[in-house]
Amino acid sequence: MTKETVFTLDNVSFGYDENKFVLEKISFDVNKGDFIALLGANGTGKSTLLKILNGLIFPNEGKISFLGKDLNEKSLKDVDFKFFFRKEVAFLFQNSDVQLFCSTVEEELSFTLLQLGLPQPEIEKRVIEIAKIFDIIDFLPLSPHKLSEGEKKKIAFASLLPQNPSVFLLDELTSNLDPKNERFAKDFLKTLHNSQKTLICATHDLDFAKSFADKIAVIGQNHNICAFGETKEVLENEKLLLKENII
Ligand SMILES: Nc1ncnc2c1ncn2[C@@H]1O[C@H](COP(=O)(O)OP(=O)(O)OP(=O)(O)O)[C@@H](O)[C@H]1O
Ligand SMILES: [Mg+2]
Repeated sequence: MTKETVFTLDNVSFGYDENKFVLEKISFDVNKGDFIALLGANGTGKSTLLKILNGLIFPNEGKISFLGKDLNEKSLKDVDFKFFFRKEVAFLFQNSDVQLFCSTVEEELSFTLLQLGLPQPEIEKRVIEIAKIFDIIDFLPLSPHKLSEGEKKKIAFASLLPQNPSVFLLDELTSNLDPKNERFAKDFLKTLHNSQKTLICATHDLDFAKSFADKIAVIGQNHNICAFGETKEVLENEKLLLKENII
């Protein structure tokens, strides 16, 4: 039985500046339930690729689809598709300051549910539920901008949960987290993976990739995918990992 395809990238190239691509002809499929670690040296384009998958920026060349439907500026102007996509796909920015913009943590956790038009009692119920699991009840009335970097990362992660997305695009989730919060975040990812959520995580943490991901995509210094496959198989290629500054 073939698994449902969530994303298809077909020769995707992108440049912030038209004459310099930071992603070159990227092609791969993401299937439902995949846990993919996205590896690559600094500046190879991991965050850029996650932003493309989240429909925040669009390829200059090539195509990307989500559940068989083109993902582009035009399709995201369709209100029904946009709501569906924004509900299903959650994105954690590498820099939490870009993500957190509300005046309190509680508003941060409620924001997407308000956008989706859920009734207030349901919003409060879901927010409290997640805040309990993340042990952040005391943070709810606080301003996110007065928190430490690690606390912000935890709040940013928690704020993805109330909408119950099926796809998580996570950019360096565990950076800035202390050992206890890192363990919590990793355990939580396991729970998400066990419930068939699709996870794509950009990371420099090779041990994390090895123990958690079932597939690895490596973006090389030429900004293309230089390896994609089962975790064990990709990590066995030490020569490539050395060449691409992964180890
Ligand atoms: N907003 C931007 N405008 C112009 N160039 C950018 C922008 N964001 C990133 N870049 C450039 O695009 C390239 C890829 O950046 P990106 O942030 O995707 O890399 P990364 O693989 O996530 O790196 P890191 O491991 O440091 O997080 C870099 O050369 C970077 O300087
Ligand atoms: Mg990055």
